[in-house]
Amino acid sequence: MSDALWTQASLLAATGGVVHGSFGPVTGVSIDTRTLEKGDLFVALEGETRDGHEFIRLAFEKGAAGALVLEQRAAEFKDAGPLLAVANVLDGLRQLGRAARARSQARIAAVTGSVGKTGTKEALLKILSMQAKTHASVASYNNHFGVPLTLARMPENAEYGVFEIGMNHAGEIEPLVGMVKPHVALITTVEAVHLEFFPNVEAIADAKSEIFTGLMPDGVAVINHDNPHYQRMRNAAKASPAGQIVSFGTHSEADIRLVDCVLLPDASDVTVDFFGRRIVYRLGSPGRHLAMNSLGILGVTHALGADLDHVLASMPNVTPPSGRGARLMLGETGREICLLDESYNANPAAVRAALAVLASTPVGQGGRRMAVLGDMRELGEQSTALHASLAPDLVTHHIDQLFACGPYMASLWEEVPEAMRGAYAKDSSGLEAVLMEAVRPGDVVMIKGSLGSRMGPLVTALKNQFAKGNR
Ligand SMILES: Nc1ncnc2c1ncn2[C@@H]1O[C@H](COP(=O)(O)OP(=O)(O)OP(=O)(O)O)[C@@H](O)[C@H]1O
Ligand SMILES: [Mg+2]
Repeated sequence: MSDALWTQASLLAATGGVVHGSFGPVTGVSIDTRTLEKGDLFVALEGETRDGHEFIRLAFEKGAAGALVLEQRAAEFKDAGPLLAVANVLDGLRQLGRAARARSQARIAAVTGSVGKTGTKEALLKILSMQAKTHASVASYNNHFGVPLTLARMPENAEYGVFEIGMNHAGEIEPLVGMVKPHVALITTVEAVHLEFFPNVEAIADAKSEIFTGLMPDGVAVINHDNPHYQRMRNAAKASPAGQIVSFGTHSEADIRLVDCVLLPDASDVTVDFFGRRIVYRLGSPGRHLAMNSLGILGVTHALGADLDHVLASMPNVTPPSGRGARLMLGETGREICLLDESYNANPAAVRAALAVLASTPVGQGGRRMAVLGDMRELGEQSTALHASLAPDLVTHHIDQLFACGPYMASLWEEVPEAMRGAYAKDSSGLEAVLMEAVRPGDVVMIKGSLGSRMGPLVTALKNQFAKGNR
């Protein structure tokens, strides 16, 4: 086994392409020159707006070990560096992915679900890395190029692999999981998210359940027993190569059952019945929804054969990834504000979960609980109603002030009691000045919206404002 991820011989064997020039060892794979590292193979994918071939010379300037390119374009770039020429670049990447999977001895997990894929994948990476060499998807690289890219990057000596698999349409997961061939497949949960391309939530459950089709023979399906579509997912698992189904949740028949969850300001104390054995651990993330995800994590690590005591010892280190509930104390001691940064993502399930965390976060003296919400995107025809449907949650959680922005959030704004109305703006930039003016020491501020709603700049503005200590 060589230290190189790929050699000229293994690249050729995997793709059946043509090499121009001569490859040295390839130590990584990149599809983006902005993040490319020295020694990477640059894959010149054709994107929606730009063609990767435009960036080949830049890739070599940044130290690429070679480039995977289209056969008919190879002549143009022969002078730039070593090339691996193929008939279709995405197919070439898939072939590398399949070859990496075929040579791997790793125990592999695949994670899908309407929410919580990245958080769960990151947690698994953290926990498993404490025990053995673990490879995992970067960010949310979970689609038709993200999954083969993650496979192609998998070191030959990885002992665990964790893959996030996502979809927008039915039929997308099956070919991806067919490449990953996991030993364990987890569906975190199924919710009314990405509804745009689905007639109903049942259809989403079916599409997520495609993840079981790629399981290795006798693999393990891990399913949320509390989900209304549990039986549907279970039936799909039964019809798949799965040899075992493990369920988690509060349901009395769940194999991994939540007995108790005590929410602390920045952690959760979780008590679980784990296949009949009582276990207790502190999870380094606040929120019942994240405690529930941790049960799925227990199911996956168990099925992968990881050591339970080590897994439990790692749970306090499982903190929320940035933009998904990270908790920041800002400002001078005694005059702090607490910021819950949820700016990366939003959908009804995730907003409800974040409101529950906001409600359980203690305020400082004279402080208030403020929800700053931007539009939840990709909800299709039901968008307006789904936004408005959050009003009762704000009321039951005793949220003091709502700051809202975006055309869909107008429907929530109109629905909440007048006393709760902080400010509304058409977009997040219109909210900035009024929010900065309103926030004062002691407040807990939760900022959430779909990435496209651009709530991140509000997080940055608040950080700047309170870093200066000018309040
Ligand atoms: N079980 C859950 N129930 C409700 N909300 C959840 C749950 N798990 C995570 N979330 C919330 O969902 C949001 C998205 O989390 P995350 O990025 O991990 O999901 P994802 O499935 O990877 O999303 P994407 O489809 O964008 O890749 C976050 O705000 C997170 O706190
Ligand atoms: Mg993700």
